[in-house]
Amino acid sequence: MKKLAMIGCGGIGTYHLEHFLKYDDVELAGFCDLIPERAASFARQTGGKAFTSFMEMYDDIQPDMVFICVPPTAHGEMELEAIRRGIHLFVEKPVSLDLDLARKIRDAAEAAGIITASGFQCRYSNLVEPTCRFIDAHEIVFVECARIGGIPETPWWIKRSTSGGQIVEQTIHQFDLIRYMFGEPDTVFTMGTRGFVTGVEGYDTEDLTVTSVRFKSGALASISTGCYASDGAAFDSKITFGARDAHLDHYILSKAVIYGEKPVEEPVDESGLVIRGDGSLRRPDENQARQILEEGDAGYLCDRTFVEAVLSGDASAIRSPYADAVRTLAFTLACNKSMDSGLPVNVEA
Ligand SMILES: NC(=O)c1ccc[n+]([C@@H]2O[C@H](COP(=O)([O-])OP(=O)(O)OC[C@H]3O[C@@H](n4cnc5c(N)ncnc54)[C@H](O)[C@@H]3O)[C@@H](O)[C@H]2O)c1
Repeated sequence: MKKLAMIGCGGIGTYHLEHFLKYDDVELAGFCDLIPERAASFARQTGGKAFTSFMEMYDDIQPDMVFICVPPTAHGEMELEAIRRGIHLFVEKPVSLDLDLARKIRDAAEAAGIITASGFQCRYSNLVEPTCRFIDAHEIVFVECARIGGIPETPWWIKRSTSGGQIVEQTIHQFDLIRYMFGEPDTVFTMGTRGFVTGVEGYDTEDLTVTSVRFKSGALASISTGCYASDGAAFDSKITFGARDAHLDHYILSKAVIYGEKPVEEPVDESGLVIRGDGSLRRPDENQARQILEEGDAGYLCDRTFVEAVLSGDASAIRSPYADAVRTLAFTLACNKSMDSGLPVNVEA
């Protein structure tokens, strides 16, 4: 049986563990965390072994795949050493805060034929396909999205030097989905503001940012993200894809609603009225909305697709390979660069 290991048994590690516990075709072999109790707890739940050093874990259990679930600044040697040993890699987002390091890992993994994936589970939502179909069928002019929340409790989150800030650490999911479903960004211009979050010791990142994006297609986006809000004040907006003749609201992992789509399947009588099921007539309503609901578990699917790729050797179903996650990282780091310089920044390909 192939052996699975994990580094980082914190918040997102717990989420992945819940998925792993449903597997009967993989050995949950090793769990590593700098905090021994965390690794021990995961090991107890799975029958695997606990470690505080990833190197010792690699030596001891010789895993076939490793899930890397550590804070953004802890990446590097754990990936490079895994690649040297032929261990396949699932790396949580953001895959690093250092673009050069991420590219080095990407290139090494590619050269070694390592199967990779990253934690962009929203790509596995059943809403992605209908949204992509809508985007293919309508020329998109404008994309709009906002994510307003509070401050996560992980100690490393409050400093931009250890989290990357909210765009890179959190709203990267929205940036990634927009890239994946719509297209590549060309230029970003981001403004940030501070001073609205008070009383959080050590906090030194933006409370709110607003990013304008110009895409290679010429379309524009406005993407906002804030961590100033307490419970009731928080809101996670939809991502709206606006065309001249219709628009689609993509509520991540919840629903997609299409407005303005012409009802193509409805029978129409000679005068142009729509024939209802009971034979009565009504005017065609071009503004009627069509709603598609989230089904299934995109997070489970994201993990399972990677594991099955390692089991079969076929990585073609992975929607979020490491190399692609590096592009999303570049998108978000360009926003930080723009914020710091006060200038528009070209997103590196
Ligand atoms: N895909 C998602 O939706 C999602 C959600 C939450 C977090 N994340 C990402 O997952 C990563 C971790 O976030 P978290 O909330 O789990 O953080 P966390 O602080 O709860 O957990 C991280 C764990 O990694 C351990 N760790 C740090 N350095 C290590 C090292 N060198 N060796 C072994 N263990 C080490 C820490 O002790 C900690 O237990 C972040 O990059 C975050 O952005 C992704």
